[in-house]
Amino acid sequence: MSDPFQFEGRVAVITGAASGFGRAFAQQAAALGMKLVLADVDAATLDAAVQAIREQGAQAIGVRTDVRDPAQVDALAQAAIEAYGKVHLLFNNAGVGTGGFLWESSAKDWEWVFGVNVMGVANGVRSFAPIMLKQGERAHIVNTASVAGLLSPPAMGVYNASKHAVVSLTETLYHDLKNVSDVVSCSLLCPAFVPTGIANAERSRPDDLRNDAPPTRSQQAADLQLQRAVRSGRLTPDDVAKATFDAVRDARFYILTHPGILASVKLRHEDIETLRNPTDPLSLKPEVKAEAKANAAS
Ligand SMILES: NC(=O)c1ccc[n+]([C@@H]2O[C@H](COP(=O)([O-])OP(=O)(O)OC[C@H]3O[C@@H](n4cnc5c(N)ncnc54)[C@H](O)[C@@H]3O)[C@@H](O)[C@H]2O)c1
Repeated sequence: MSDPFQFEGRVAVITGAASGFGRAFAQQAAALGMKLVLADVDAATLDAAVQAIREQGAQAIGVRTDVRDPAQVDALAQAAIEAYGKVHLLFNNAGVGTGGFLWESSAKDWEWVFGVNVMGVANGVRSFAPIMLKQGERAHIVNTASVAGLLSPPAMGVYNASKHAVVSLTETLYHDLKNVSDVVSCSLLCPAFVPTGIANAERSRPDDLRNDAPPTRSQQAADLQLQRAVRSGRLTPDDVAKATFDAVRDARFYILTHPGILASVKLRHEDIETLRNPTDPLSLKPEVKAEAKANAAS
């Protein structure tokens, strides 16, 4: 895979395409001359995203998809093939999150977050990788994890665990693909905080998985912390999309848009290698740590 990936005229499928990174991937793909299949659980914002991409001059269809549901992801793949005949680039990007102490996270929190973040990615791989392998042409899968897949900050346990699963799933996918194909590969996107709709993920929680109990103090504090962190992110979704397409072009696996976090990743790895008890990833950010403690106590 030494030749750069060619985007022009190829087909991209994006989940979580109606907002944030997904929408930025769509704009970048359209600018590169790709044909697009946009998928999201939110039909209204999905329609607006498809319209915007068409106005940009690209071919695009929208397929309302809940990535938690294997049958809906199969139907998405079928719709892509019916529309354009092939799929060359898949972004398993849809994601949601909850916060608060682990023991206060409800069974519904686990089911929802793992349903979208883990099973959504698994469904995408299961539905699309066989199509890509059968095509025998250059194709690529990008799975959106997070720095929360490389670190375990406090009060984000359900999200951390889901993103660690995406990291492991995608590293394994890389090896599996390499064992059978010279033309199909994958990348792992691990961004830190970027201003998108992620801090307002509750908007897409299905009614049957809404919590009956009001949020606990730790959940309220984690929510406040997330709102602030996401708002203060310096990179834009466009910056993340650009870095991602550069990595796909060059067949690079790890996409770390915020290299500053590597110091914390290294500390974590040193903890494991030296059997030292886990270092709090926020210890390198004392101001964030102090704020988190103050929020949780107030
Ligand atoms: N923004 C950040 O700071 C940040 C950092 C690291 C990782 N991420 C990850 O980036 C990805 C994209 O999130 P974003 O930040 O653009 O947030 P966002 O909320 O702006 O976009 C997420 C999109 O996913 C859609 N979605 C939610 N549930 C879905 C489902 N069941 N099926 C299909 N679509 C669904 C939403 O409707 C929304 O359009 C997520 O996986 C998120 O965990 C975000």
